[in-house]
Order: sequence, then structure tokens, then C-alpha cells
Amino acid sequence: MKTLLKGGTLVTASEMFRADILIEDEKIALIGLDLAVAEDTMVLDVSNRLILPGGVDPHTHFDLPMFGTVSSDDHYTGHKAAAFGGTTTVIDFVPLENSGIEKSIALWREKADPKAAIDFSFHMNISRFDEQIEAEMAQLTGMGITSVKVFSAYNNRLRLSDENIFRVMRVAKKYGLLTMLHAENGDVIELLIAEALAAGHTTPEWHALTRPAWTAVEAVLRGAALAAMAEAPLYIVHMNAAGEVDQLAYARSKSLPVMGETCPQYLFFTIDHLRRPDGAKWVCSPPMRSKEDNERLWQGLESGIIQVVGTDHCPFFYDGSKPILYEGKPIAIPGKELGKDDFTKIPNGLPAVGDRLPVLWSEGVVKGRLSPSQFVALTSTNPARIFGLYPRKGSLTPGADADIVVWDAERVVTYGVDQSHHRTDYNLFEGWTLTGFPEKVFLRGNLIVDGKQWLGSAGMGRFIQRNSHNPVL
Ligand code: URP
Ligand code: ZN
Ligand code: ZN
Repeated sequence: MKTLLKGGTLVTASEMFRADILIEDEKIALIGLDLAVAEDTMVLDVSNRLILPGGVDPHTHFDLPMFGTVSSDDHYTGHKAAAFGGTTTVIDFVPLENSGIEKSIALWREKADPKAAIDFSFHMNISRFDEQIEAEMAQLTGMGITSVKVFSAYNNRLRLSDENIFRVMRVAKKYGLLTMLHAENGDVIELLIAEALAAGHTTPEWHALTRPAWTAVEAVLRGAALAAMAEAPLYIVHMNAAGEVDQLAYARSKSLPVMGETCPQYLFFTIDHLRRPDGAKWVCSPPMRSKEDNERLWQGLESGIIQVVGTDHCPFFYDGSKPILYEGKPIAIPGKELGKDDFTKIPNGLPAVGDRLPVLWSEGVVKGRLSPSQFVALTSTNPARIFGLYPRKGSLTPGADADIVVWDAERVVTYGVDQSHHRTDYNLFEGWTLTGFPEKVFLRGNLIVDGKQWLGSAGMGRFIQRNSHNPVL
């Protein structure tokens, strides 16, 4: 069976043009004007619609154990929410178990493979570094995993010393892997948390007050300097502060191979949201900052200093004692209420994977901050290129996977938890009026979202082997 998308306007990372798209055997077979219709072809009239490559979200945490609970979207429910928001590929982070890299990845594949509803890959967290880990890093490319994440925060849990971050960068470079950095100053944060608790501070705003922006700013420069000395590429995840953008701009002005990602939450929200009675909803690490930080991050996107908008999707229930109905069944998972008396016990993270495209389009493209092509670059093509998925993903070209979003740029939606499909009880963009929304979503030529209808299923998503040694954008 072939499908012809007729009369749409294609948006790529560099141009917009009218063309038909013929889908055959899960791939884009042909692109051109007025393509002939063969007998066994289903024709969809998509005139007055934009045609985008499926979104690529390189930063998710599905089914992640944390703070005595687990992130509330698993590899099925999170994929489904992603698809409704126009994202067809996600890259999730594998926590490093004591058993080492290979076994940790096998465990994550066991969790993900039967549930996956869209295509996916993994990054490997390197939260310990020794001879075993160094040896196992050599195997990653063979497993199709071509990026590792290191942390300069979360002391005694995930953090590596600067020496070991530097070592990881050198080993990563040797094997064609991209190092990703969670940039915060763990030592300062631990001290400030201990002092805040000793002084009796318990509310969510203290989550932000104990993680000052300077800890992120200096860690970005430190990371860039280590990358320079290791002569290795670096990708800064979840950028959140104006000073980080400045440091990234500085590093790039010195021709260092450093790239950056921000996430929707850092473009809109501030520490004031953590001061609300329901402030725990906004607790994630790094935290929300100020309006000036929001503004500088937008500038970073507009000017190309920042290359990617991911999500760091890591949702928890706001009140995990009250079940919600998910696919007709009640479900409740302990969440933010765990920290009602102590901000350090609030599970860190928030829902976003399905929000990313509609919110960024509405606030970025409709409001004139980003062109449609910049939007596609930031949400699909750039992450696909940086993480070794391109041109199979992130592109509208013959031979690419037919991961396609039919985008209704005119549709106005009052957005919120009921539209977002995340398996949680709240949405950060509740009540926002959004203009522009996915109408149909194809995964490798299969229609998985048709308006409000879910046509996808657990197990239809595939693990995608990624390439190594990819371009620095
Ligand atoms: O609060 C967050 N972001 N949780 C996920 C872990 C991380 O550091 O990305
Ligand atoms: Zn992180
Ligand atoms: Zn994360």
C-alpha cells in the first residue's frame, strides 16, 4: 500500500515549498509536484496544511526510578504522548547500574522494546568511571548508542569529578561518541541545601534558591574548557540560564565544538512559579530562573547559539494519592506529594514531551520569534544530525523514514492536561491558548495519530542504531 500526501507545503530546516509526498514501504519514496497516482495508492488531500518531519526529542526519562518512586510515563505512555505532540523519535537516558554498561542497556531495552510506540534510541549515563566502564565504552557504537551523559552535580549519586569528566571526554572522542553534560556545581549545591534544611526551609522555592544560576554558568564554562583540552565535542543539556548562553556563545566564538539544548520550561517559567501553592509542579533540575533568563534563552534559539529544543521529560503526579483514568483504567503513582514537607524529597522532573512542538510553534513561530524552518531545525533536523539519526530521521527527503506530521497551523487549542496525553495529573501549560497543532502523525508511513484518535500500539516503535562521529552544528 502506498500513501500520497497531496498538495501540502513542506517545511524543512532550510526552506518551504509546495509538493506531494509519496510514501512506500515505510519510506519517503518521492517528492514532487503533481505526482501521478498509481492504483494501489491512498490519497490524502493535505492542501492548506504544513508537512513537517516528525519531531526528534533527544532528552526523555521514561520509567525512571527516582526518590523512591518512578517517572510516571513509561516507554508506551510517554511515546504515545510524544506522538500526539508530533514527535516520532525519542532518545532516553540509561541509568548506569553496578553491573556496568552492557547489562544496564540490556535492562533498559527489556523495559522499552515491548512498549515502544514510536522509534527510539538511548544515551548512556556515565556516573562512574573505571577500567570496566572505559572498556565498555568501546562497545557502545556497536550497540548503536553514540552519546554519553556526565554530571557535574548530584554528589554521591551521579556526579563525576572533573578528572573523570575529562577522561570520559577523551575516551568518547576516541570512539566517536558525543559527551553530554548536566552542568551544575554539585559542591555548592550540596552545601546550600544542607544550610537551607538546617535553617528550616522546606518549600519548593528553596529547590531553586539552593541551585543558583552561577553554579550552572561556571559549570558550562568548565565543561567547554574540558572539551577544549580533550579536543572532544560537547553538548550541554537543559540550558536554563542567561549566563550559560553567554558561555556557550564564548566557547563557540573560540571555535570550540560545543553545542547546547534548552527545553520549553526554561523559556516560559521562573522561580515565581515555584512560589505558588502548587509550586512542586515546577520542580526540576536545573530549576526555573528569571524572566531575563527566559529572554536570553529565546535569543540563543533565534541566533543559533543553541541548536536544540528537547524536553527533559520526566513526569511525576502532582498528587500521586489520587488516581487518574489512563486508557480507561485508574492509575496513581507516588509523585510530588512525597516532598510536601521537604523540598529535597520532591521528585525532580516534569511532563513536556507532548507539549514541545505545539508550545514552541505557538509561542515561537506564531509570535514571530522563529521561522518555520528554524522550528523544524530546532525540534527535528538538528537533534537528528547531532545524534547520528540523519537523514533517516529529521528530514523530508526520498529514502528517509516516512515520519511525517501533517500540521494544522490554523488550529486553535485551549491546551492542558486533557490534550497532552502524558500519564500524569497536571500540565504546566494548563489553559494556554495555542495556535498550530498536529493533525496527523505518521511513523514510518503508518498513521499513528489521526486528530484525537490513537492508532499506534505498544511494540511498533523500533530501536534505531545511530551513527557515530557526527557533525558539530
Ligand atoms: O529534574 C530533572 N531534570 N530530572 C531528570 C534528570 C536530569 O538531570 O536530567
Ligand atoms: Zn540532567
Ligand atoms: Zn534529563
